[in-house]
Amino acid sequence: MPHYERHVFICTNRRDPGNPKGCCAEKGAEAIRETFKKELAARGLKGKMRANAAGCLDQCALGPTVVVYPEQIWYTVPTPEDAVEIIESHLVGGVPVERLRMK
Ligand code: FES
Repeated sequence: MPHYERHVFICTNRRDPGNPKGCCAEKGAEAIRETFKKELAARGLKGKMRANAAGCLDQCALGPTVVVYPEQIWYTVPTPEDAVEIIESHLVGGVPVERLRMK
């Protein structure tokens, strides 16, 4: 049974342009997902931690939506630089990034 120290889910859901719900994809979620995958691999964390694309996590207005398990901490991650901060502070260092937590 695979077990990860930390498992990150990134909503990459896309809706049609003009849909009143909006979506994480239109706010750059693919770049956020790529950053998590690339930066975890670059730190030699493949196998210990994992980043997965997810469907809609039902927090569309607050996206790009990211949730980190096992702590179940929800984030709004606007930029790839913010994703790197979460990797360094939370995933590696164990300290959640308060300023990015979903309110
Ligand atoms: S579209 Fe990302 S949370 Fe709904």
